[in-house]
Amino acid sequence: MITLSRRLDDVRGSAIRDLLTLTARPDVLSLAGGLPAADLLPRERIAEAAAAALTDPASVQYGETAGLGRLRDVVAAHETGRCGRTIGPAGVVVTTGSQQALDLLARVLLDQGDVVVVEDPVYVGALQVFQAAGAALLTVPLDDHGMRVDVLAERLAAGLRPRLVHTVSSFHNPRGVTMADGRRRRLAGLADRYGFLVVEDDPYGLLAFDGPPPVPVAAHGERVVRLGSASKILAPALRVGWLTGPAQVCAAVERLKQCTDLCTSALTQAIAADLLADTTWLDAHLSHVRAVTAGRARAFTTAVAELLPQVMCTVPTGGMFCWLEFPGGTDTTELLPRALAGGVGFVPGSAFAVDARLPDAARCCFASLPSEDLREAVRRLGAAVSRRAPRPFHAGT
Ligand SMILES: Cc1ncc(COP(=O)(O)O)c(C=O)c1O
Repeated sequence: MITLSRRLDDVRGSAIRDLLTLTARPDVLSLAGGLPAADLLPRERIAEAAAAALTDPASVQYGETAGLGRLRDVVAAHETGRCGRTIGPAGVVVTTGSQQALDLLARVLLDQGDVVVVEDPVYVGALQVFQAAGAALLTVPLDDHGMRVDVLAERLAAGLRPRLVHTVSSFHNPRGVTMADGRRRRLAGLADRYGFLVVEDDPYGLLAFDGPPPVPVAAHGERVVRLGSASKILAPALRVGWLTGPAQVCAAVERLKQCTDLCTSALTQAIAADLLADTTWLDAHLSHVRAVTAGRARAFTTAVAELLPQVMCTVPTGGMFCWLEFPGGTDTTELLPRALAGGVGFVPGSAFAVDARLPDAARCCFASLPSEDLREAVRRLGAAVSRRAPRPFHAGT
């Protein structure tokens, strides 16, 4: 018997990561994973960048903890453009995926019992990080325009004093919604007034189907730490993410990262820097990804409207996810085994629930499958819904 630290006692396992084993079966069309489409990952351009990087011995060496200078420059320039104020390379820390940025942030900012506000339903990776940090979690609901900042404002006025407020501001995982501009401005104002930090977790912002990406919460105030990632715009396997925020936070994160992994891979940082700095290529790549993904979103929502007319489905304007709400009485956790047996996977809403009960909801990722497979997946989902759960046998009836 080995005694483990109590740190994990309150950390809920990720039902989604567990599900990935089941949905990887070749007979299953998976709407479950948050995986970018394999056919949209730019493998040839990555191979070219890798070959170029490998001519420099520094690409296979340890590097600076805060990240490769070229990558920090390109991220700083991009974030300056998005936020409308100068963000220098010293305000950027490169991390091993933005998941690591979340973890480092929680560990440098939180002590046991500190209050953290999360959205409900929540991005499970954030929930796990805050649970591991021993935070006291409070939830704020979402509606079709993102976080209910009015509810947060009421709770703050009533005395709530969080250390952090976490939000997936654009194309929410799992809810698919985007925070309205007025709410972004108000949230940044509340952070200034009450002295908390907003963690704006934004891996999907550049995946807007029409028009420019949403203006970040960080454009409205300085008490915002923004997290970005190469995972959804280039490739998850690069494991390159970044954090921008106040200098004091960046310095603390850098110090803790020294303990965690010394530095992110110099090779994949060099690849990411090359691709992100090649704006002609990047613009064309992102336009293609957005157009294809928008087509898939349309195919999915059309199929739901036609084949599951009783189901409510969000209308995605970017990102990778749709949120379904089945009519009362459908329990999506019970539906899942029937759906998997019928060859389709999704994630039940309960996997993302903190205080809310979401028994009739489901998260579906429309980004990973071609349109014809999405229609077939929805048909299979419909078949699973209409295949009734076996009734308990009562003698004499
Ligand atoms: C909201 C959100 N934040 C962070 C991440 C982590 O991304 P990565 O570590 O690949 O950058 C994800 C991944 O799905 C996500 O959905």
